[in-house]
Amino acid sequence: MKKIAVTGGSGRAGTYVVKELLARGYDLINIDVNPPTQDRQAWLCPFRQCDTTQYGQVFAALYGFDAVVHLAADPRPDRDHYAGAQRFHNNTLSAFNVFNAAAALGLERVVWASSETVYGFPFDVVIPDYAPIDEQHRYSPRSSYALSKMLAEQMTAQFNQWSGIPFIGLQFSNIIMPEDYAVFPSFWNDPKQRIFDLWSYVDCRDAAQAVALSLTAELSGAENFIIAADETVMTRPSADLMAEYFPTTHLRAGLGTYQSLMSSEKAKALLGYLPQYHWRDQVGATV
Ligand SMILES: NC(=O)c1ccc[n+]([C@@H]2O[C@H](COP(=O)([O-])OP(=O)(O)OC[C@H]3O[C@@H](n4cnc5c(N)ncnc54)[C@H](O)[C@@H]3O)[C@@H](O)[C@H]2O)c1
Repeated sequence: MKKIAVTGGSGRAGTYVVKELLARGYDLINIDVNPPTQDRQAWLCPFRQCDTTQYGQVFAALYGFDAVVHLAADPRPDRDHYAGAQRFHNNTLSAFNVFNAAAALGLERVVWASSETVYGFPFDVVIPDYAPIDEQHRYSPRSSYALSKMLAEQMTAQFNQWSGIPFIGLQFSNIIMPEDYAVFPSFWNDPKQRIFDLWSYVDCRDAAQAVALSLTAELSGAENFIIAADETVMTRPSADLMAEYFPTTHLRAGLGTYQSLMSSEKAKALLGYLPQYHWRDQVGATV
């Protein structure tokens, strides 16, 4: 597997995915409705303009590739129900088109971006049954965005059955760019700022690592993996945060002091994922 098409390669995560896959020697094309901007990646690899809601464009763009990494989506929270409807349309139809074209073209693999929001977002509205949350946790999508990801996951199970292609869905936590670490200290005295995803995060370079590992992992089904950092964004112990804000949530045994409340154990076991970036190194804090 050498030739990889990356949809959404002009975006925030896409930029780091493109860099990671180029470093690993893949031949890439970036398929996006928007060209890469100069400050992100300029033209690291060929770019093909394509609206992934248009099936013919997607089919033509994926022709000749071995696998696709599907990141193209609108990840913003719903502003109102009109924006939510547009987002649902864009993300769900794009996922269908990419999955359907991959099946029709007999691609070897589909790796794609799902989201942790399928389990609930924001988490002060949804109360987790237990923490750390893993892939067995009940789904509770509360936005058009989370619904689009949940339905795309369901689609992959069916596409996998009829095409035999492995589909690997990465349920990313909130993806943090290197420049985002500067705001971390503002979270520490105000836990409500980051309660929405149980204080979890993932560095964009670790997100890219997960994509790269997914291209070679020995998997044959439609699998979904939580991809998060090992620790929360907070300086308070995870058990304290849960006791104050989610007193009814069952805490699983063996929780580490600052351990993430979104578990990447399945990704560690089946993909070989190992987060390399930790906010304490990035912020330079001693806490
Ligand atoms: N950023 C996060 O915290 C986060 C968390 C979980 C999951 N994700 C998922 O990861 C992926 C990448 O997120 P990101 O933060 O890089 O988003 P982004 O908005 O920075 O990038 C998304 C890219 O997709 C492209 N795109 C959107 N709709 C398109 C269409 N119809 N046709 C072609 N291109 C289209 C955009 O032009 C953009 O370049 C998305 O699927 C997102 O849902 C992101």
